[in-house]
Amino acid sequence: MRAAKLKKEERALETKWFTLRTPENEESIAQAADILRRGGLLAIPTETVYGLGANGLDENAVLHIFEAKGRPQDNPLILHIPDASWLTCYCEDVPEAAYRLAERFWPGPLTMILKKKPCVPLRTTGGLETVGMRCPDHAVTRAIIEKAGVPIAAPSANTSGRPSCTTAEHVREDMWGKIDGIVDGGACEVGVESTIIDLTVTPPQLLRPGGLPLESLQDALGEVTVDKAVTQKMGEGEKPRAPGMKYRHYAPKAPVTVVTGGAKASARYLLTHASEDAGVICFDEFVPLFAGHIVHPLGASDDKRAQAQHVFDALRTFDETNVGEIWAQCPDSKGLGLAIGNRLKKAAGFHTEASDDGKTVVGITGGTGAGKTSLLHALEREGACILDCDKIYHEMLESDESLRKALRAAFGGTIFRADGSVDVHALGLIVFQDAEKLASLDAIVRAHVPRECARRMAESNAKLIGLDAIKLIECGLGAICDATVAVTAPEEVRVRRIMARDGITEDYARSRVAAQQSAEYFRARCDREFVNDLPTAAEAAAAAEDFIHTIIKNFKEETKHE
Ligand code: TXA
Ligand code: MG
Repeated sequence: MRAAKLKKEERALETKWFTLRTPENEESIAQAADILRRGGLLAIPTETVYGLGANGLDENAVLHIFEAKGRPQDNPLILHIPDASWLTCYCEDVPEAAYRLAERFWPGPLTMILKKKPCVPLRTTGGLETVGMRCPDHAVTRAIIEKAGVPIAAPSANTSGRPSCTTAEHVREDMWGKIDGIVDGGACEVGVESTIIDLTVTPPQLLRPGGLPLESLQDALGEVTVDKAVTQKMGEGEKPRAPGMKYRHYAPKAPVTVVTGGAKASARYLLTHASEDAGVICFDEFVPLFAGHIVHPLGASDDKRAQAQHVFDALRTFDETNVGEIWAQCPDSKGLGLAIGNRLKKAAGFHTEASDDGKTVVGITGGTGAGKTSLLHALEREGACILDCDKIYHEMLESDESLRKALRAAFGGTIFRADGSVDVHALGLIVFQDAEKLASLDAIVRAHVPRECARRMAESNAKLIGLDAIKLIECGLGAICDATVAVTAPEEVRVRRIMARDGITEDYARSRVAAQQSAEYFRARCDREFVNDLPTAAEAAAAAEDFIHTIIKNFKEETKHE
């Protein structure tokens, strides 16, 4: 009751909006600084996330920050300053290491915990004798602080328990009417909060991973330990050294599962484990694979900068949907990966599953008559389990209730025979006359077949998997293959092969070749090409064997280097 009442009485303020991308507009900078000097609340841009700022030396102003955010008062705020020369005003016994770090990484996404001077109120530090100091890499905010002439206490500008804000619009959603102003300084470049290092202990300890990688700190300082709370759920009675690390940043309605392991393996895992009503956070290259889900791309698997920028947005998105569960891919913990993984895992209450299956998947694609079979046989001789996607699709037409239900909803009962089997001919007649219906069949197939392929991969004991699919790339499965091979052959060779294989006329064989994508199409979309124009089956088999051996050798070398 009391909380609700407090909310109502919460100062219904007129929130002023400043759009300031550069610090040149002196009048606006002065107005913004004035809000802070007079004890007001101002949302400010930084390179990491937006902050909710107030004069850090003014207990009353600081109290309003806790109120506006609904933040527990034992959770300390950090002080933002425009340069390292301000450190001695607020901190006692500043170690040499602090200046070394400031020299290298300020302005930038690094907060240092130091001993506080008495002028810093305990209200600001949540009762602690230490204080977090940070110099943000945003020229507008540094100019505002300089003009205000006081250190600015600023937690992330989200309502407590919500993901941090990386745009002024996010701040508007959470804070409009509760604070005096919002400075729109553009989208935050880093996207996750600053790295927090405690310099009051020896060796220094990382309390929160963030925009500055742990490796950079180790490079500057030598040994740096990592607080347990960064990678694990705290047990009953255990306390993280940064009080804020005990809170879940964001607790979506649906349970979150974070999948660790290599990008391809984790995508395969997700595909087999996520239920049909799951929301998915995945690396960009796997988006087509999760066609049947609500998907939020995290960034390419090799682009952690992009992932850091998107991680909070990805978590926010599912607020507006009613997904039953959320599955997220997670980068490795090198560089920014430690911070990205930490934010995802915290949202999941540290519910993680490991995906590494030790499997190597080779995807084989190409037009009819190009000679895929030589490669598939060579893979089989290496002990591979071969999955023929077309065959799997036809089996699913008979046995997969989810697929059959989707087909019935899209095309009606007429495509089913009296015995319940699907009349593929009737289905063909419908879709080949109508581009829209064809697209709808494609979408249904994409939402069902890759999942079944991944399930069969997981089920197989084989370490090597050969995936045979003419639409390997289009259905998204190419992305989960460790290698993709385009099998090509000159048109004349293909025509002769098809005539011999299927006992059809030359004209018909030519029309079938013409109806398919060109060799160039497959070549452009795969990692490798196998040109199968060899005149005899024995020669083709020998060449295919060599080709597969080279691929396997490359994998072995790659995994050795990891
Ligand atoms: O990137 C950032 O650091 C952003 C932007 C706005 O600068 N700020 C930010 O503040 O993330 P906040 O309050 O959301 O997170 C600060 C974290 C909290 O987990 C808090 O518990 C911890 O820093 N912290 C602050 N002072 C501390 C201290 N003296 N000792 C240990 N942890 C401290
Ligand atoms: Mg925060």
